[in-house]
Amino acid sequence: MDPRNRVALITGASMGIGAATALALAEAGCRVALVARSDDALAALAGEIRDRGGKALPLSGDVTNRPAVEAIVRQTVDTFGQIDILVNNAGVGIHQPSLTASWADVERLMAVNLYGPLAFIRAVVPPMREGGGGLIVNVSSIIGRRAVPQSGIYCASKAALERLGDSLRLDLAPDNIRVVTVYPGVTDTGFNRHTLNSDRPGQANADTEPQPGRMRRTPPERVARAIVRAIRREPRDAYATLFDWAFVTFSTLLPGVADAILRRYFASRTRR
Ligand SMILES: NC(=O)c1ccc[n+]([C@@H]2O[C@H](COP(=O)([O-])OP(=O)(O)OC[C@H]3O[C@@H](n4cnc5c(N)ncnc54)[C@H](OP(=O)(O)O)[C@@H]3O)[C@@H](O)[C@H]2O)c1
Repeated sequence: MDPRNRVALITGASMGIGAATALALAEAGCRVALVARSDDALAALAGEIRDRGGKALPLSGDVTNRPAVEAIVRQTVDTFGQIDILVNNAGVGIHQPSLTASWADVERLMAVNLYGPLAFIRAVVPPMREGGGGLIVNVSSIIGRRAVPQSGIYCASKAALERLGDSLRLDLAPDNIRVVTVYPGVTDTGFNRHTLNSDRPGQANADTEPQPGRMRRTPPERVARAIVRAIRREPRDAYATLFDWAFVTFSTLLPGVADAILRRYFASRTRR
């Protein structure tokens, strides 16, 4: 879909990949509805987009609040007249192991990463149908395709998002609503500082991801460009870098070898 003169609703637009995607889509001539909980960051981003000649609508809300999700979609349609593109990008991580993470955090993670996207899909499908079609972009992760140690709950949420999209692609084809899944790799955002940590209430999250130099992080602008490219070309699955694609492909072709490499790599990280 050519984003020019279209309307996109982007969740998790206050920072990171979502903010970069909103800027890139606005640059391409798309009107953008910006959704997240941080009002000030959304207002600043909307101001930046308007200063560059674009159209932006900041809409504060939590993706786990279903009445708020419906209100956000209604407000977008009331303001811009339609919704052509939904970018389900809001997401959260967790550093706690699958066996010991608190149930509150497990349920919260699923609520943000899986049920939130489903709530937005349910809300945008009626206006998309009315407008003759649309495009849903779900932001998963390379580790939703190939799980890694110590991240089982997060990997499961992203794998579930992929499967949800695969099934809806078939359900929604008669309505001309297409579904694309994007799989970023390690990206240079604050994601690892925003993880759920009810086991350490009030404490800041340590950034436990490998540091630059040990593992390269993709700039969020590059992931945003990949998302805009995916909007234009509409593949089923999209990657931001050749490394991300190679990681998934190698792990799919040689899963046992990938297991051994990942076990060693994560064990060495834990020892450091
Ligand atoms: N960074 C990576 O290495 C990486 C790799 C693969 C996939 N991803 C995926 O990419 C997406 C974006 O991540 P990022 O790296 O840009 O992380 P980020 O910088 O932490 O941004 C996350 C965004 O999600 C929003 N958000 C979180 N919980 C929300 C909620 N309950 N309701 C509404 N908005 C919420 C945040 O806004 P507020 O806090 O203002 O609400 C923020 O805008 C996520 O789905 C993540 O799983 C990231």
